[in-house]
Amino acid sequence: MKIAIDGPAAAGKSTVAKIIAKKLGYVYIDTGAMYRALTLKALQTSTDLEDENSLANLADQIKISFKNVGEIQKVFIDKQNVTDEIRNHDVTNHVSYVAKHKRVREKLVEMQQSLAEEGNVVMDGRDIGTFVLPGAELKIFLIASVEERAERRHKENIEKGFESDLENLKDEIRRRDQIDSEREVAPLIKAEDAVEIDTTSKSIDEVAEQILTLIHSKR
Ligand code: CDP
Ligand code: CDP
Repeated sequence: MKIAIDGPAAAGKSTVAKIIAKKLGYVYIDTGAMYRALTLKALQTSTDLEDENSLANLADQIKISFKNVGEIQKVFIDKQNVTDEIRNHDVTNHVSYVAKHKRVREKLVEMQQSLAEEGNVVMDGRDIGTFVLPGAELKIFLIASVEERAERRHKENIEKGFESDLENLKDEIRRRDQIDSEREVAPLIKAEDAVEIDTTSKSIDEVAEQILTLIHSKR
C-alpha cells in the first residue's frame, strides 16, 4: 500500500507520517529532505539557484540517502550526515527556489519513485498524490492556519534552543507556501481524490488516528 501525505509547510506531515509508518511497519520517505539536501549542496558549492541545468547536474552528482537510527531518520549526502544542517534557516529560505525547476524535480521524482518500489510506503511532500504516486491507495492533504503552523515551528525552535521570531516564521511560511503553490511544475495542490484534514487545534495523535482509520477502511 502506498500512502501520500501532502500539504503546506508545518502542517504536521512528517510527524504523522512517521507515526503511521512506525505503527504499520511501512517505510517513511521524506521528499522535502531530498529537496533540502540538494539545496544545501547548491549553497555549499555556490551554484546559481536560477541555473536549472547546473542544479540538475548537481543532483546527478550526489547520492541522497536515508538511514533509520532508532526513532530518527538520518539524511546523508554521499557519506556526509546532513540531518540537522538541511533544516537550517538558509536552506529553508532557499529550498523553494531550487524545487521550482522542472529538471530538478524530474531527477528527484525519479529517485522518490524508485524508493517507493520497495513496498509499503508513507511518503510526504507537496506533489506526492498528484505526481509522484498518482496511484497511491490513500491520499491525505493536511492543512492548518498559518498562525498555528508558525506557532508549532516556533515552539519546536524554542525547545531545540534555537533563536526564533514568530512574525518572521509566519512571513517565511507564507512566502514558501506561495512559491510552492504558484510554481509551474507540480505545484502544491490537493489531489482530486485526496482527503483533506484541517489539523488546526487538533493534536498529533488525533490526526494520526484519523488517518489510521482511513487506512484500515481501505485495506
Ligand atoms: O517540513 P517543511 O514543511 O518545512 O518542508 P519540507 O517538507 O522539508 O519541504 C521543503 C521544501 O521542499 C518545500 O517548501 C518545497 O519547496 C519543496 N518540496 C517540494 O517541492 N516537493 C516535495 N514533494 C517536497 C518538498
Ligand atoms: O512535515 P511538516 O512540515 O508538515 O510538519 P511537521 O514538521 O511534522 O510539524 C511541525 C510541528 O508541528 C512539529 O513540531 C509537530 O510536533 C507539530 N504538530 C502539532 O503540534 N500538532 C499537529 N497536529 C501536528 C504537528
